[in-house]
Amino acid sequence: MARIIVGVSGASGIVLAHRAVGALTALNHQVELVMTRDACCTAAEEMGLQYSTVEKFVGFFTPEQQRLINIYKVHDFCAPIASGSFPVYGMLIIPCSMATLAATAMGLSDNLLRRAADVTLKERRPLVIVPREAPLSEIHLENMLRITRMGGIIVPPVPGWYNHPKDLADVENFIVGRALDALKIDAQLYRRWGT
Ligand SMILES: Cc1cc2nc3c(=O)[nH]c(=O)nc-3n(C[C@H](O)[C@H](O)[C@H](O)COP(=O)(O)O)c2cc1C
Repeated sequence: MARIIVGVSGASGIVLAHRAVGALTALNHQVELVMTRDACCTAAEEMGLQYSTVEKFVGFFTPEQQRLINIYKVHDFCAPIASGSFPVYGMLIIPCSMATLAATAMGLSDNLLRRAADVTLKERRPLVIVPREAPLSEIHLENMLRITRMGGIIVPPVPGWYNHPKDLADVENFIVGRALDALKIDAQLYRRWGT
């Protein structure tokens, strides 16, 4: 069992965060969860709720899964994940807004998610980012390049059509499966080519 930070920011695609946390906890991994204020807005919008909170997001999981999820407030800089001395395997940011991407590329630790990303990079731990925007500007591309050069892995939420997805769930599982692959976690969410 590994301890993994999952950062959820205010880009479209909250369902990807839901699938990622679900897959990690189903595999008995410990999730350190931090959601931004705007992630709660997109969660409300995309999950058809009047409003959302990190607690509401976690409420969609089974009690067994919830026991594996630690929730942090986005401005709690006293949280364990704000320090490199707290042992974690790595971090996944899913979905990652262009604002959080830019802050991570610049080392701007102005909330706990961004601080945790900065710590992950400085400790040379795996950092996997699933950015969501289209089309991409030069700034977005430069920020992705900066993070890649620092050792982070950018996994865009792009389906593999060779996998013949039947529905959105197939597409989402493929995207989340590839992001977890980048963390070296085999969640068996999609069928691998050649198998
Ligand atoms: C419904 C909705 C969808 C959004 N989708 C995106 C998106 O896909 N990508 C993005 O970069 N920003 C998107 N935004 C804008 C971000 O939420 C905004 O830039 C915010 O400041 C991001 O802050 P955060 O990274 O701290 O969550 C969206 C906003 C809303 C309300």
